[in-house]
Amino acid sequence: MSSVALLKFDNKELALPVITGTEGETAINMSCLRADTGAITFDEGYGNTGSCRSEVTFIDGEKGILRYRGYPIEQLAERSGFVETAYLVIYGDLPKPYERAQFGRLLSDNAALREGMARFIQNFPRDTHPMAVLSASLNALVAYYPHLASNNHQHDLEHFDEAAAIAISKVRTIAAHTYRVRVGKPFNYPRPNFGYCENFLHLMFSEPYNEYIAKGEVAQALNLFLLLHADHEQNCSTSTVKMVASAGANLFASIAAGVCALWGPLHGGANAAVIEMLRHIHDDGDDGTKFIASAKDGKGHRLMGFGHRVYRNYDPRAKIIKQSFYDALASLGIKDDPLLNIAMKLEQAALHDDYFISRKLYPNVDFYSGLLMRAIGIPVDLFTVMFAIGRMPGWIAQWHEVAANPKGRIYRPRQIYTGHAKRDYVPMHERIEAARQEAGLSK
Ligand code: CMC
Repeated sequence: MSSVALLKFDNKELALPVITGTEGETAINMSCLRADTGAITFDEGYGNTGSCRSEVTFIDGEKGILRYRGYPIEQLAERSGFVETAYLVIYGDLPKPYERAQFGRLLSDNAALREGMARFIQNFPRDTHPMAVLSASLNALVAYYPHLASNNHQHDLEHFDEAAAIAISKVRTIAAHTYRVRVGKPFNYPRPNFGYCENFLHLMFSEPYNEYIAKGEVAQALNLFLLLHADHEQNCSTSTVKMVASAGANLFASIAAGVCALWGPLHGGANAAVIEMLRHIHDDGDDGTKFIASAKDGKGHRLMGFGHRVYRNYDPRAKIIKQSFYDALASLGIKDDPLLNIAMKLEQAALHDDYFISRKLYPNVDFYSGLLMRAIGIPVDLFTVMFAIGRMPGWIAQWHEVAANPKGRIYRPRQIYTGHAKRDYVPMHERIEAARQEAGLSK
């Protein structure tokens, strides 16, 4: 492949360097375009824009490939766990035994919240959306760890291990405390002898009179759910994290912003939206036919859990999570779930419908992950928070790439302005007179 791309514009010919990634993916480096021609690139929604170089995650959307640090997601799903995968995503390699033990200890040591933080969560009205509580809490955490939030990347990086462990470990405690406030129950304290997922389930569901001991299969399903969400290269929330980081912001400010981006129904909010859609179809007495027709009429309804900007093939995470969902159902003895029946029909109908086939719209990770969360007892309004817990390693790793890049520049896209051409200021008395005339009140 040529190492330059030729661009002719306004009687000028530019030789633009071509960049090639590890897996042969190519990009035309446009960074000199404005300086050399006065023009900018235009790519609304960034469908063709490479915003950075990254070593964390590789996706081939056409082939349905996802790898963290080179390791296929299928192998990690089968053989690794969330904590080990989090280490891999953040530090770039699978941990040696002592590194794994040290990382586990750091997570354990940082699981509990300071009393002030617990009170902060308790003081939100009970029906505050958990994503709002999560974002606010991640930002508020730095009040207790000011040395982690100097907003000087060099200084913040010196404390990176501690900051990463606090973010990964406390996000789970914040989520569980938020749930306890919502259901009007007292907080549980983390148990140092429990694994990451078992501890989360204990924080959520233990009662003073009845400690919740998670069934192996349930903890395993949660582990898999988190692992499958650990990173997904430059998606909306990760790009938000990097955008905020590029201004020099600390890890906690950056991930709090990531949580807000994730909240939207086209991104992480889709897992809850899938369940709401299935409930709506069920309550409507529809078998999915009516809903599919409305998702095709161009009026803005979408089949939630379907389609992806990058995958033009089955989302590999959806395949894995679907199987895990069936395993969880079997181990929990759930035989007949009307929402599941609708989901299966919907999936089959969409996979055989020309509208979805021609647009290459396949089930994404959210189509089955909501059903899985529901089966293991997580309330729907916490689904997107669960996504955020899983995505934490990715956000941390991608923040680190920005913070550790000495040549990094602030992210600052340009625009094509389509507003008014230059016009002169109109004083208030003239605007009053104009309004009077318009209303026919003028003398
Ligand atoms: N249902 C019906 N039509 C769809 C859907 C859908 N779920 N997704 C895309 N389309 C149509 C869209 O209307 C457009 O049709 P046309 O060419 O006739 O105008 C075409 O497919 C291309 O859509 P697009 O909006 O240009 O695609 P995009 O890459 O900008 O959007 C998406 C990707 C994920 C936002 C979108 O597919 C969607 O809204 N899906 C439903 C929400 C969802 O499940 N989101 C979770 C994504 S996976 C987890 C994550 O990464 O957050």
